[in-house]
Order: sequence, then C-alpha cells, then structure tokens
Amino acid sequence: MRRLVRSALFTAAAVAAASGPVLGQTAATLEQALPEATQALAARESVEAREFMVAAAHPLAVEVGHDILARGGSAADAAVAVQAMLTLVEPQSSGLGGGGFLLYWNAATESLTTFDARERAPAAADEGYWLDAEGEPLSFWDAVVGGRSVGVPGTPKLLEVLHARHGRLPWADLIDPAIAQAEEGFEVSPRLAGAIADAQERGLDTFDATRDYFFDAEGAPLAEGTLLRNPDLARTLRLYADQGAAPFYEGAIARDIVAAVRTDTNPGILELEDLASYEVIERAPVCVEYRAHEVCGMGPPSSGALTVGQILGMLEGFDLREIGPGAEAAHLLLEAGRLAFADRALYMADADFVSMPEGLLDRDYLRDRAALIDPETSMGQAEAGDPPWEDAHLRAPDSERPRRGTTHFVIVDRYGDMVSATTTIESGFGSRVMTGGFLLNNELTDFSFRPEADGQPIANRVEGGKRPRSSMSPTVVLRDGRPAVLVGSPGGAAIIGYTAAAIIAILDWQMDPQAAIDRPNMVTLNGPSIIEDTAEGAELAEALAAMGHEVSLRDLNSGLHVIVVAEDRLISAADIRREGAVRGQ
Ligand code: GLY
Repeated sequence: MRRLVRSALFTAAAVAAASGPVLGQTAATLEQALPEATQALAARESVEAREFMVAAAHPLAVEVGHDILARGGSAADAAVAVQAMLTLVEPQSSGLGGGGFLLYWNAATESLTTFDARERAPAAADEGYWLDAEGEPLSFWDAVVGGRSVGVPGTPKLLEVLHARHGRLPWADLIDPAIAQAEEGFEVSPRLAGAIADAQERGLDTFDATRDYFFDAEGAPLAEGTLLRNPDLARTLRLYADQGAAPFYEGAIARDIVAAVRTDTNPGILELEDLASYEVIERAPVCVEYRAHEVCGMGPPSSGALTVGQILGMLEGFDLREIGPGAEAAHLLLEAGRLAFADRALYMADADFVSMPEGLLDRDYLRDRAALIDPETSMGQAEAGDPPWEDAHLRAPDSERPRRGTTHFVIVDRYGDMVSATTTIESGFGSRVMTGGFLLNNELTDFSFRPEADGQPIANRVEGGKRPRSSMSPTVVLRDGRPAVLVGSPGGAAIIGYTAAAIIAILDWQMDPQAAIDRPNMVTLNGPSIIEDTAEGAELAEALAAMGHEVSLRDLNSGLHVIVVAEDRLISAADIRREGAVRGQ
C-alpha cells in the first residue's frame, strides 16, 4: 500500500512527499499544472431542449448566446457573441488577447472541421527564449509576468473567420451586447473575485492598466459584487464591430499590443510583422474509434485529441460497461493516462515544426500499450512507447506542463450546426499585461523552457513562428457519422483526463451528462494519481492506494460543458465546480 496525501491546495511539498520527482515532472511543475480553486458546488440537473442549446462558463455569456440562437443565429454567430462576452465577464480565462481551438459541425455538408487559433511565437524567438544568461530555465512565474510570455493572439481572427464561413446574422449584432455590457458594467462574481485575490501575489498588480482595472484605489482586490465597467474594452469591441479583426493584426490595436509587450521587466519581442502574418489554420479533426463511435478532436499543436484518443484506444479492450464505475475502472483510466502522457511528453508538439509519429493512434500500437496495464497494480511511472514512425529520431521528454486559465463552451443551433470550443489566455489573467481593456496571453510558457535534455532536442522547444503544445481538447463524438456528444473543459494538462472520463461515463455507463461530470475527477500526468477531494473521491483514493498508486487528494477544478445530441432532444450540463450555465429552447 502506498501513501495517500490529502492537500486542499496540493502544495509542492505535498506532491514531493507523495511522489518525489518523476520523469521530467517535478512537484513544482505539477503545482503549476493544476487548475484554480472550485467556487460553486450547488447541485444541478441536466437541462433539455428541442431546438438549440448553449452551455458556457458565465451566465451572461450563456444569455447572449441564447438570444443570438433565438433570433435565428447560427452556432457560429452564437460562438462569436459568447466569446466577446467572456472577454469581459471571465477575463481571467480567455479573451481577445488569447487563442483557442474550435470544432465546427456543418449540418449542410455533414462535415466536421477544426480551427487552430493557437497563439504563435514571434519569428525572432529561438530555443534559448526561456533560458537565462547562465543557460538555465527561468522560473515559471518570472517567465509568465510580462510581455515576453505573449504570443500572437488568435481569437480575434478565429471569430472573424468563423463568422465569414458560417455566420447568418450581421457581425456587429454579435459584438454589440458585449459593448453594452462593458459600458453598463457587470458584477464581479465570486470566482472572479477569488481569482483576483489569488493572483495578486502572482504579479496581477505589476502593470498600471491591469492594477487600475482589477484593484480599488487602495490597492485591494475587487470584491465580489463590485460593478465593474470596462470602457477601454467597449472601445476595442466597437472597433472590432466596425472593422473586424484587421485592427488587431495590422492597425491601431496591433500597434498597442506591440507597445504593451515591451514591459520593463521580462519584455517581449513581438513585432508588427508577427501580427500581420498570423493565420487561423483549418485542420482535419483527429479521430479515434471507441465503442462504435468516433471521438474527434483537435490535433497538433494541441496534444488533446491524440492523448484523449490514446487513453480511449487503450481502454477499448477492457469491458468498462461490465466493470462499472468504481476503483477498478479508475485504476484502468489512470494507468492508460500515464502511458498516454509518457508519449505526449516525448512526441507531441506543433507538427508544422517537428515530425511526429504517424502511429500514435494505431490500433495495434495501442493494443500493445494496453497490454502493459496490470488490472490489479499500478505500473507507477510509464515510459514512452515506440509507435509506427518512418522518420523516427531521438528525442528527449518534455518537463513543462500547461497550466491554469481557459474556458470551454458548446453550442447547437436550430439548423443542426454545432460548436465545441476551448479558448484561453493560458494562466489565470495570462501575462498580466493589459491593453485596450483586455488581457494578453502568456501562451509562450506552454513551450518547454529547456530546448534539450541529455543532448537530445525536446519536441516542444521554442522556435520562431511555432505554436506551443496545448492540452485543450474540444471534442465532438460522432455516432453513425453525426454528432452525439459535444464536450470539453478547462484545467491545464488535467483537461485530457477530465474529457476522457466524461466520455467514458456517457458512452460506457450511459450516464446522464450532469451525473457524468459530477463524478469525482481523477487525473495523472504520469506522476501521482490525483483524486478530487470529495467523500466519494476519498473512497476511490483508498482503493487506488491499495493498488499501488501514489495518491493525492485535492481540489480538481474542471469546467466541463456538455451537450448530448439525442434523437429527439438536446441534453446539456454545466460543471458544478464553476459558475457556468446552460440554456436552450
Ligand atoms: N494553455 C492551456 C493549454 O493550451 O493547454
């Protein structure tokens, strides 16, 4: 039996006590990897609708999405309105200064596509970007705070491209509600107030514009219930409504971004040309077969679909329906997770820059990997496998982990079009640099800080123009070629575990979506098995410890949003751990 550690905050010391350093994964990187504190745990029930549905991380974003859908807008229209509103009301998680990945189901052509709006490194960045004068990696928070962590934002262009392809309502109509709300103000929610207070000790009050917005005149973090107006964002959004994304990439806002990243400490090197040359890339979805469904998501530069796909592909050979939810299934999920995370660390990165194995989802390969799982005892730490790969060459595993921030929303419109999108500014409040009323991302800290280890290059090292590896896993599950489930979550690298577990609960155990996402979260990044600290989670943790897992109990703050598309209705759920909501008709 291994030791079980309970830690409300999952401190670095607790992780170290539980596990010691693991392959490329120290206690400190794990601490950075895990998400923000849970804010709301009121019981909820799934919501049903017949025509359309939206679920997102803030009630005001859901309301505007619902209004757009009710006016005959498409899922693309609603996504634009939801994301514009989230920039205002959930500023710590996503916004116009960040990026994301969006899956779009086009009912007319019965096709699924993915949009890669991941932030991009400046052309002048090189592999020494995160090394100090002695050639040592910067500490994480020293890297985050300041303009150097800012990549070219993708979200403004993503929304424009989406609207141009699939929009039905006038562009300005989709932005206007966020403009009005920014002028009128919104109430600081408990979650936002808590996040501001937490981030104060991590540099949120470093820069004038950010301090002036999130703190009062005495320098205290804004309290829950404060009416917060954002006239700067209202002006930015008006420009966006009038001129689209161009000002962000070639105009006044681009110039402001380039000036803003030149912070006194940790200055950035973004140039106007980096912004002007940015493109949103449409890519084919990456899909894996699971229980007679196709589970489709975002390929590189996200590791999401590949890692979720590996976990499910390995579990395909276990009869989870017969096994049922409980410690045995939790053990299998976590063991598959550690095998998948070992491959992720070694192989996965922006495939436009590094060659990656073709066979990461190969059925035979995953069957061989699954054979390494002992149904009764944890393997401890997994090693990467040797997937089919013509162009194989030596690599070193990555030691960096994506961190907190991020949001997920799902939308179905009356025409049958659908969106599953995860967007982010990376850490809560991104780089802390604010311009035009919105925060700039710190996505460049999603790269490996070390370019190599033991003389071998790390796939996710910094390179000019490259997109950092992500864990974001917006997912659409297809049955008979049509969407059956839309799902995804924020949560740093834990997103992958949250998403895989929700899919298993819905497909294998036929759980109603709210019941599926209410279950205790459990994740591993190929180190300790981290279990959500609830009564049910504590029981699971005891059983897992008896199977040899290094177990840690802690708050695991997912933000899962789901829509199940049944024959005659839509059934949706929002995570009880955050402040999101669901509305449909
Ligand atoms: N920045 C979070 C992620 O991309 O996974």
